[in-house]
Amino acid sequence: MITPSANILCFGAAHFDRTLQCTEDFVPAASNPVRTLHRKPGGVSRNIAVHLRLLGNTVAMLGAVGDDGDGDQVIEALSNVGIDTRLLMKLSGMTTAGYTALLDETGELALGMMNAEVYDQLTIARLEPALTSLQAWPWWLIDANLPSDTISWLAENKGQTKFCAATVSPSKAARFAPALDKIDLLIANRAETRVLTGIEVNELDQAKTAIEILRAKGIPDVVITLGAQGVVSSSKTGTAFWQPLPTRLKDVNGAGDAFYAGFLSTYSQPGTSFDDAMASGLALASLTAETDGTTVWDLTQKAVNDRAAQAKSSLL
Ligand SMILES: Nc1ncnc2c1ncn2[C@@H]1O[C@H](COP(=O)(O)OP(=O)(O)OP(=O)(O)O)[C@@H](O)[C@H]1O
Ligand SMILES: [Mg+2]
Repeated sequence: MITPSANILCFGAAHFDRTLQCTEDFVPAASNPVRTLHRKPGGVSRNIAVHLRLLGNTVAMLGAVGDDGDGDQVIEALSNVGIDTRLLMKLSGMTTAGYTALLDETGELALGMMNAEVYDQLTIARLEPALTSLQAWPWWLIDANLPSDTISWLAENKGQTKFCAATVSPSKAARFAPALDKIDLLIANRAETRVLTGIEVNELDQAKTAIEILRAKGIPDVVITLGAQGVVSSSKTGTAFWQPLPTRLKDVNGAGDAFYAGFLSTYSQPGTSFDDAMASGLALASLTAETDGTTVWDLTQKAVNDRAAQAKSSLL
């Protein structure tokens, strides 16, 4: 049985995602009547931090919000689940980040808009004074919403801390490219893997080639998630393929972030193995895909363990 204790500092995005739908035919460059379908907390680092916390870990978030209502609500929502928000900067004159999706009258995406400017303020100059206290955390989860310079500087200055990279999106994944030799754990999906390796990952042997390239750059633990196809992993114990766990699919949104949280929650505990962590990652991804939204609010370690018990791998 895992005793939650790990100290994980999560760097990156915490904001709100809004989804609006046109109530009449969508007309570009015009005022469209809409209804708001939902407004939910989001951001890769936030999604991972919340699941880590719900599993009992000691978690803090380092990020940035604006001095607006959204910023206060982001901080409050994280505090309410017991995440330490003292390293979340509230920057005056800035707007809290946010993703807004506009669906047309049929429910198809008409327009997606991401304002992430506030994350550009997570500069080396802002983080440098706190470096010693940042290095006191044994695990860093870094999402690629941080500026490239800051990512490289953190990688250079990780000290004894494990540097865990979350790629976020194909365009942002490239921010890790100069720091690959300093990363301890990388988890990426197909498209993000292609950006970092130049390999198009459609088949398992392509995933194996890509993972070997990443390991050769010096990353000891690499995981490539392949959506409904499963996962390919590589660590000192070898390269393996994992089937996805049986899932009553509801909403796959956030399954990748959930995989990361499940993996890291287990891997950061003393006495666990890479394979235990893979099983937990698959389990939390599966539980999240059975839930509406990105967060399993009634999550328990038992639910993760029960689901993880079904995980199977084969060496590639
Ligand atoms: N249809 C599915 N059935 C079962 N498991 C799934 C399915 N889709 C995803 N998963 C699980 O979630 C994991 C992560 O999914 P995926 O590779 O799509 O990540 P992602 O592209 O980063 O997702 P996102 O960023 O939208 O959260 C998969 O490796 C798998 O374990
Ligand atoms: Mg993802």
